[in-house]
Amino acid sequence: MNRLLLATALLASVSCGSTAGPAPDTAAMSAESKGAELFNANCALCHGRKGDLGMNGAKDLGLSTLTRAEMIAMVTNGKGAMMPYKNVLTPKQIEAVVDHVRTLRKAG
Ligand code: HEC
Repeated sequence: MNRLLLATALLASVSCGSTAGPAPDTAAMSAESKGAELFNANCALCHGRKGDLGMNGAKDLGLSTLTRAEMIAMVTNGKGAMMPYKNVLTPKQIEAVVDHVRTLRKAG
């Protein structure tokens, strides 16, 4: 039993040590998965999980030609039937959600 605990502790410390290198990558990935989470919670009801649901006149995000900065402004301040998110999400969360929207773009 004790030996098993020790082995587990050793394994944990080894795998911790090996993540020291690609730390920025890991951070970027968790920001992206956070963006996806925020998108599914706040945006998917109109835009759909893939961005192409089009409820309430929402545009297909996969076809959007807006730049990243324009999307951030739009999500922050809202437009038409889309409400502003500046009191709902932090600027960092808005960036994360917009970065997720940009992964929904269709190729081409
Ligand atoms: C209540 C429904 C609704 C919700 C919720 C919603 N949107 Fe929208 N969204 C719209 C509508 C409607 C438009 C079109 C607005 C217009 O152009 O008049 C739009 C447009 C957009 C556009 C611009 C697309 C383009 O090319 O013009 C982006 C980007 C966008 N939404 C992102 C988001 C994000 C990110 C969220 C969540 C934080 C979100 N939306 C939540 C309804 C919604």
